[in-house]
Amino acid sequence: MPLRAQDLFAERIRPLLEKRCASCHNPEAKMSGLDVTSREGLMRGGKQGADLVPGKSAESRVYQFVAARKMPPTEALPAAEAEALRQWIDAGAAWSGPESFHKQRARAGADWWALQPPKPQTVPAIDAANPDESR
Ligand code: HEC
Repeated sequence: MPLRAQDLFAERIRPLLEKRCASCHNPEAKMSGLDVTSREGLMRGGKQGADLVPGKSAESRVYQFVAARKMPPTEALPAAEAEALRQWIDAGAAWSGPESFHKQRARAGADWWALQPPKPQTVPAIDAANPDESR
């Protein structure tokens, strides 16, 4: 029984991209401009333009390069993994889970607390009649 597209992504495609492609194509090390850790990154593509065309594996460079054994550069994907990638794209390239599976390194990123704009603070009320009471 064929896996639903969503399951195909979670069980086959995300692990494939993570293990075989993301070391060179992630938001911090975008070889050829490509980030494979999010659907948006794949759609935006790299130097050669969009690399994912949902529904059309033949027009998706992510698949073309895998099928032509150009990517990954060191070791070609097992045929079953390349085939799963083709099926996933042709089924519409559904993404599930976090927008990007890239794991930030342990360092201050844009979401670090010190880089956030200050939020209005509530000033503790002081009892005007007994200003020293808190001592
Ligand atoms: C060891 C590093 C490395 C790994 C792993 C790797 N790539 Fe690449 N990739 C590159 C380099 C370097 C280029 C640019 C050179 C080229 O186009 O041949 C590139 C280019 C590409 C491009 C063209 C991007 C563009 O639009 O210019 C695609 C698509 C691509 N890779 C897909 C993949 C996929 C899919 C995988 C995993 C199956 C993968 N790559 C794994 C290094 C890597």
